[in-house]
Amino acid sequence: MTDDPAAGATLAPAMALPFDADSLASPLSTERMTLRPIEPGDSDDIWEYQRLPEVLRYIPWPVRDREEAHVHTLKRAGMRRLAEDGDAFHFVMALRGERSMARVEEYGHRDRVVGDVMLRISSTQHAQLELGWVLHPAFQGRGLAAEATSEVVSFAFEVLNPHRLNAHVDVRNLASAALCRRLGMRLEATLLEDVWDDGWQDSSIYGLLRREWETQRDSSAS
Ligand SMILES: CC(C)(COP(=O)(O)OP(=O)(O)OC[C@H]1O[C@@H](n2cnc3c(N)ncnc32)[C@H](O)[C@@H]1OP(=O)(O)O)[C@@H](O)C(=O)NCCC(=O)NCCS
Repeated sequence: MTDDPAAGATLAPAMALPFDADSLASPLSTERMTLRPIEPGDSDDIWEYQRLPEVLRYIPWPVRDREEAHVHTLKRAGMRRLAEDGDAFHFVMALRGERSMARVEEYGHRDRVVGDVMLRISSTQHAQLELGWVLHPAFQGRGLAAEATSEVVSFAFEVLNPHRLNAHVDVRNLASAALCRRLGMRLEATLLEDVWDDGWQDSSIYGLLRREWETQRDSSAS
């Protein structure tokens, strides 16, 4: 494929870009959570999981102190536009009925952010998006990650129009591999020793095509 239509080549169906967080008419909603763009006021809640070694184990985040983590949250809160390869956007999982650690005087009463879900453009040319996730360990084992990520997957296919979603998972990260399978993603490849993490480690690539997601959606609706 070339990107020169004059040469008679066809282009992949385009994603619906640019996407701006401000264009979201309302937050996404699941049975137990509200999923909304990450905000600076989420910093205290995010710190509660970002500081934990077991959370950082398979995420390419360095160990940060509280101030560095706050700056990181501010940076992610500023990433509100998807337009070019590498652009990312984060939904937080705000758990209804669980009180936030954020100061009430400053932010009012709000639901606690227990995790977040990332969408990142892998390729605009080939209409590919990457999915990532993290959930506070105290809230794992309840199906919350699956509930939130499947809603974000639906949002991605319905609103952004990718041809394929992918996830890169360290082969030792069994919880994430299980989540990929719950989302109906297929194990497509294992990349041998493509990451250095205290030694060379292997990664799994999981994928979900638009038509596979449509089949899942239609069969769960019937
Ligand atoms: C990956 C991660 C998000 C998975 O969290 P999780 O809570 O295990 O994921 P799910 O929401 O799919 O929950 C599944 C578990 O909840 C249980 N569960 C309980 N009630 C459930 C329900 N109503 N629906 C579905 N599952 C339910 C399942 O049985 C399963 O438990 P099991 O793992 O003991 O079999 C979490 O381990 C994490 O944040 N890890 C650290 C960050 C990370 O590595 N990120 C990925 C980088 S690629």
